[in-house]
Amino acid sequence: MKVSPSLLSANFANLTPEIEMINASEADYLHIDVMDGVFVPNISFGFPVIKAVGKICTKPLDVHLMIVEPEKWISQVRDTGAWLMNVHYEACTHLNSAVARIHQAGMKAGVTLNPSTPVCMLQDIITDVDLVLLMSVNPGFGGQAFIKNTLKKTRELKKLILESGSSALIEVDGGVNETTGKELAEAGADVLVAGSYIFGTPNPEERINLLKGLR
Ligand code: DX5
Ligand code: ZN
Repeated sequence: MKVSPSLLSANFANLTPEIEMINASEADYLHIDVMDGVFVPNISFGFPVIKAVGKICTKPLDVHLMIVEPEKWISQVRDTGAWLMNVHYEACTHLNSAVARIHQAGMKAGVTLNPSTPVCMLQDIITDVDLVLLMSVNPGFGGQAFIKNTLKKTRELKKLILESGSSALIEVDGGVNETTGKELAEAGADVLVAGSYIFGTPNPEERINLLKGLR
């Protein structure tokens, strides 16, 4: 299993030791949640913070934009050094062009689905994307309970990927812990995002290892 700890649950008053912990850990990526107060009812942080984090983080940045019109910000995301830019299906009128432009900017392209958006909406773009992020909570806040229906969506997405010949990874975000993580691994998830489960304990590396060991 690949693991992407979510910076949203880190200590914003002292980020350096948090990033150093991630660098030294078995984590595969660092998940960065950008919120605009419009697409979601919350505001997190913006490009200057991501750039500063990117300078000291040795793991690839997996940037999750919970904002309207994310395609307006492709070059700013690229300038943070991001490895992957995740845009919401619900926020992009012209998703095909957004994905192409993310690739042109030299990044991997991810498409994110809200809990109420069905997997079949990706049928005509699945072979163009590098990753699909399934939200297992309504986006905007850390620490929410896992929405069980995501297990069914993960299985449906796995089937769509296999049948289409896509090489997209399946990432799941929200309410991930060792129990939901195990169920997601069995359903076909490739990457688990976890915020409060990892940062809310005195021994975050142990939890990263626990998620990494899920099959
Ligand atoms: C929620 C964010 C998540 C959040 C997950 O809108 O997209 O990445 O940090 O937090 P947990 O793991 O605590 O549910
Ligand atoms: Zn996220």
